[in-house]
Amino acid sequence: YQHRARLKTLEPLKLSREQLLEVKRRMKVEMERGLSKETHASAPVKMLPTYVCATPDGTEKGDFLALDLGGTNFRVLLVRVRNGKRRGVEMHNKIYSIPQDIMHGTGDELFDHIVQCIADFLEYMGMKGVSLPLGFTFSFPCQQNRLDEEFDLDVVAVVNDTVGTMMTCGYEDPHCEVGLIVGTGSNACYMEEMRNVELVEGEEGRMCVNTEWGAFGDNGCLDDFCTEFDVAVDELSLNPGKQRFEKMMSGMYLGEIVRNILIDFTKRGLLFRGRISERLKTRGIFETKFLSQIESDCLALQQVRAILQHLGLESTCDDSIIVKEVCTVVAQRAAQLCGAGMAAVVDKIRENRGLDTLKVTVGVDGTLYKLHPHFAKVMRETVKDLAPKCDVSFLESEDGSGKGAALITAVACRIREAGQ
Ligand code: BG6
Repeated sequence: YQHRARLKTLEPLKLSREQLLEVKRRMKVEMERGLSKETHASAPVKMLPTYVCATPDGTEKGDFLALDLGGTNFRVLLVRVRNGKRRGVEMHNKIYSIPQDIMHGTGDELFDHIVQCIADFLEYMGMKGVSLPLGFTFSFPCQQNRLDEEFDLDVVAVVNDTVGTMMTCGYEDPHCEVGLIVGTGSNACYMEEMRNVELVEGEEGRMCVNTEWGAFGDNGCLDDFCTEFDVAVDELSLNPGKQRFEKMMSGMYLGEIVRNILIDFTKRGLLFRGRISERLKTRGIFETKFLSQIESDCLALQQVRAILQHLGLESTCDDSIIVKEVCTVVAQRAAQLCGAGMAAVVDKIRENRGLDTLKVTVGVDGTLYKLHPHFAKVMRETVKDLAPKCDVSFLESEDGSGKGAALITAVACRIREAGQ
């Protein structure tokens, strides 16, 4: 009986092929609403123009600075890009902290601090006073009006991390026209036809669009796929009602979905002998790395118990089987949802170009994709199944926010020089 009760609870988390196709279809609708001038303002999937109009062609060269402002730390990088026989990218970087008072202070104070860090870095590299083109990566949504948004520096590019990811892989693979992040959060970008980017003048060529797809569902269009656990995770989050798609599939939230299910099971006496520990009531205990470990195939149940013990959860052997099963169901759904979204993106590119088949590479980064033992495989299989006319390869990206920012700057400089 207990087994059946648990299965019944997990049932709504198991999405059928039809449901996934429906997610793909709705993603496409929402992407189109974000691109269109008439509907953009009210569309949750923002489809932000990035002003990046080309991927690397391998002829880029020069020295570039890159700034990576993501989490708590701030990095300054010097990136040397060479072409010809010594083609490749060489990087040097230094990490700087951003003091709390500056972090919570004004924009001016933050940028003053950043400029000081750049000066220090150049001195450290023995390049004091040298002025280099610079790319600046933000890992959070940022509405841009042009590629080089005004600063008192030779800022050539302001970069979203998905675009940096796409460009890093684009340097190795000319088919790379999509960037994907599945880590703490999730987002994707891709090369869209200019004629469809209605927010920007011009019909010719292509421009990379930052979808900000994490907000898919913020208008309620995913509500029929949400379970009571998704609702609970959303309500307890810092931004209720926002980033609904992201909350079903990225590392920051998967553990919370798992925890909410475990609490439900325990309350109903289906787990942990019905005793809810203080630990289980604590938000954020299941980090991506634990979920990844728990699902690791080579791990014996004894080791799953050890992980749970480490988390402060006393479990029996049966408990550990149940916890592992819950983790599997939640991660599988996440990978399938991500795959359904990606299927919409690649099929849109294919349809844009009027092609029967499309060969495309997706540059990917993020801890969930890279660390989880099954996520990548399930996601890839889902894309293949839901977008059969696309031949999609996935390439792992390294340091998109550093290397990618420099490459965007390099491409922009190449185009700027060609135009002169
Ligand atoms: C990094 C990229 O490696 O992955 C960043 O350079 C990106 O640009 C990050 O934001 C995302 O992964 P996670 O798991 O740290 O959120």
